[in-house]
Amino acid sequence: MGKIPCAILGATGMVGSRFVHALHDHPWFSIEILAGSEGSTGSTLRKASVAARDLHLPNSILDAVMVPPDPDAIVEAGIGVVFSSMPADVAGPIETRLAQAGVAVFSNAGSHRYDPHVPILVPEINPTHMGLLGEAESVFGGGFIICNSNCTTSGVVMAMAPLVKWGIEEVNIASYQALSGAGLKGPAAIDMMGNVLPHISGEEGKVRLETLKILGSFKDRDVHPAPFAVNATCVRVPTAHGHLLVLQARIRDELDEQDLRRALHNFTGVPQQLGLPTAPGKPIIARPEDDRPQPRLDLNAGGPGRAEGMAVTVGRLRVEGDRVRMVALVHNLMRGAAGGSVLNAELAHAYKYI
Ligand SMILES: NC(=O)c1ccc[n+]([C@@H]2O[C@H](COP(=O)([O-])OP(=O)(O)OC[C@H]3O[C@@H](n4cnc5c(N)ncnc54)[C@H](OP(=O)(O)O)[C@@H]3O)[C@@H](O)[C@H]2O)c1
Repeated sequence: MGKIPCAILGATGMVGSRFVHALHDHPWFSIEILAGSEGSTGSTLRKASVAARDLHLPNSILDAVMVPPDPDAIVEAGIGVVFSSMPADVAGPIETRLAQAGVAVFSNAGSHRYDPHVPILVPEINPTHMGLLGEAESVFGGGFIICNSNCTTSGVVMAMAPLVKWGIEEVNIASYQALSGAGLKGPAAIDMMGNVLPHISGEEGKVRLETLKILGSFKDRDVHPAPFAVNATCVRVPTAHGHLLVLQARIRDELDEQDLRRALHNFTGVPQQLGLPTAPGKPIIARPEDDRPQPRLDLNAGGPGRAEGMAVTVGRLRVEGDRVRMVALVHNLMRGAAGGSVLNAELAHAYKYI
């Protein structure tokens, strides 16, 4: 069987360049179209993308010429799968038009995450939410949109999913988020050198809503949000990649530190059972050392190979009464963005949605 032709929209960006890296030698997908803004149109990826330059991509892909994200041209070119990493206001209407034309869209943007017929998919956690695609069929008439979560949420849900069986009553989160999470036009260098910014616009609300949707249950053809409180304080720090999360959960049923460590260590899911190409062998790496995880040491957990950056590392595991405490690290561009979306597409392919 030949590879499935795909397009990457927003290919020059922080996330888009990781899509290019993940897909240029993918066993199931082949990149046919790279799209950027008007400013990049007609340039090569090499010229248009600062983010792609240090990813060791082959010349054949660096010399590809950028086009605009025109849904009609994408459909006319016979593209059935689109990976989208554009700003939300641009992505929203383009993704809708593509889905209406029968295309499978895998999106990193926030535009459709809360739509009732769009799952926020984390394949190890909520593959049953793909049941929403039955509803998408009637809304879009053939195509669909599958979102992945905001980068911070992806680390929160991975660390919390193994605790669901003990009854989560509340989750408190403090995030230390890397610069690449803000995209290529992130905060000014002078604001970030030797400094932290104690507010990331819109982030805390996204983390709350998305955590509850992802950890919610699929019943009666709908996702019912998880019934606990989520409180987040999100801070930008001057690391390059990797969001560090300090997590505290209040738990209903009794557990001890050994239960916690075992649950995190043994956590696994459908991607591991199916051996999907971008699935890490272990989605959660539980470190025993007091000084882990660290962005510098643990960013690429999950590898070697194409699953690099797809595992979430947890450490500082503590149980005190009904409180569970830990520190988690997620690669915001991989598990939290492009890698997560590619894993979603692999699951959709394995389940014959594409
Ligand atoms: N960074 C993260 O960690 C992360 C994680 C999860 C989700 N996301 C989401 O993913 C999306 C991309 O984020 P990013 O960090 O990669 O941003 P970015 O580095 O700023 O890249 C944005 C991309 O969108 C393109 N673009 C901008 N305006 C456009 C327009 N009017 N028409 C067509 N293309 C346009 C840019 O092309 P040009 O280079 O030609 O301008 C670039 O390729 C956002 O929705 C973001 O919220 C980001």
